[in-house]
Amino acid sequence: MSLRDAALFVRERAYAPYSGFKVGAALKGSDGAVYRGCNVENAAYPEGTCAEAGAIAAMVAAGVSRLTEIYVIADCPRPVPPCGGCRQKIAEFADADVPVTLATVAGEEMTTTVGELLPGAFLSSDME
Ligand code: THU
Repeated sequence: MSLRDAALFVRERAYAPYSGFKVGAALKGSDGAVYRGCNVENAAYPEGTCAEAGAIAAMVAAGVSRLTEIYVIADCPRPVPPCGGCRQKIAEFADADVPVTLATVAGEEMTTTVGELLPGAFLSSDME
């Protein structure tokens, strides 16, 4: 299954009763497996979590801590831009040149990189 199909599939499982905005994310771990996540909202709005965070949590729970590719999809006017917090979360687990594909359900895609999404990211190496 392609990352797009995996992200589309998991997007349908999003729990987004407040925003009505469903997001799906699929990533490839360094083990070659695909991990998926969807946004999970909460009546206490700030407690909601993004699709990217869910996919990263699934990867880490499987014992994998690097990702080599990530795909994010939503039904919006332009390929869905990850929020600032998710850019930081992705940067924690991916090299700067890792491709990030942003997409719409309608079929538009834009591929960028982790480094382009968050230039100058604060990383663990900054605490050495
Ligand atoms: N959302 C994501 O899951 N990922 C993004 O990259 C952008 C925003 C979610 C959070 C919230 O559940 C909904 O979209 C509206 O902000």
